[in-house]
Amino acid sequence: LMAAEPVNVNEFQELARQSLPKMYYDFFSGGAEDQHTLRENVEAFSRITFHPRILVDVSKIDMSTTVLGFNISSPIMIAPTAMHKLAHPEGEIATARAAAACNTIMVLSFMSTCTVEEVASSCNAVRFLQLYVFKRRDVSAQLVQRAERNGFKAIVLTADTPRLGRREADIKNRMVSPRLKNFEGLISTEVVTDKGSNIEALASGMFDASLSWKDIEWLRSITNLPILIKGVLTCEDAIKAVEVGVSGIIVSNHGARQLDYVPATISALEEVVLAVGGKVPVLFDGGIRRGTDIFKALALGAQAVFIGRPVIYGLAAKGKHGVRRVIEMLKDELEITMALSGCSSVKDISRRHVRTERDRLQ
Ligand code: FNR
Repeated sequence: LMAAEPVNVNEFQELARQSLPKMYYDFFSGGAEDQHTLRENVEAFSRITFHPRILVDVSKIDMSTTVLGFNISSPIMIAPTAMHKLAHPEGEIATARAAAACNTIMVLSFMSTCTVEEVASSCNAVRFLQLYVFKRRDVSAQLVQRAERNGFKAIVLTADTPRLGRREADIKNRMVSPRLKNFEGLISTEVVTDKGSNIEALASGMFDASLSWKDIEWLRSITNLPILIKGVLTCEDAIKAVEVGVSGIIVSNHGARQLDYVPATISALEEVVLAVGGKVPVLFDGGIRRGTDIFKALALGAQAVFIGRPVIYGLAAKGKHGVRRVIEMLKDELEITMALSGCSSVKDISRRHVRTERDRLQ
């Protein structure tokens, strides 16, 4: 039996599993098709080892950093994940308050269950809005403008989702979509399908699969906020993203919920970092469950990371307090990793502090 207070993210996951209806737990934890990439996102970290230095003064460790000019207490931010009210009745408001308490940045999902106005008025965390471009472009544009008016600081364009990946648990469970309050009065998000996942039916009805690189121009025409592009996995797309002038790149495979058999994000990170060549910041998400994982991502060139499922597990298990605990645990784990590797600040974490499989072959 598990102690009442979880000591790591995996124990929070187990608590979440116990506290959620199966349909919702499966929705949050699952990936696409064979879930090969889902396992890889986590396991690929275990194939990277440390190359630590000794006898460095680590009596004071500074984990603070900046992202788009915003100071945050550690390089751990909150990824956009849909429908937090399925995890906890306070939904994204609880998550946002935890972000504020941890002095970090939250990316609010476009598919949230609290409105941008509710989230804005309930906390003073730095917030970015994640964007899906709908066939009804006017609806997406209105959301972007509402976010801008309500003090959100950047737009995170999710670019890996022309269609929703096949998530077989959702198909089997006939996953239903909750109320998406942001869209009330704008567009009906109610779908009824007699077979399969309602979430998938919703996405195929709404998402604009014609979205392409030229539409970054359109996005720039409707907002002055900086634009980050989320879902980059290749050097080809990294170069295009820099060319179209985005303010940052997020290496992500959508938590392995889209195309199965893409590489683990930690395996794709370095290719993107090398292609970008420092022209814009490279951020990272996917499979982070330990502070050691965060250190590895920073060593391979990420400026900071986002966590998706760990936040939901914290929220489901213990609400705002749980999200806060998850972030604090990862922060504590990162701190000890830095100390034992001989890094007293995040800028000390270098490529020379880790060994990948490829390094070992050479
Ligand atoms: C997501 N993700 C996601 N991404 C996005 O851009 N918009 C969204 O609405 C969602 N929704 C969503 C729901 C759930 C339940 C999950 C697990 C993920 C992807 C998310 O932003 C991020 O890329 C991954 O969650 C990162 O992987 P980990 O940390 O969950 O392993």
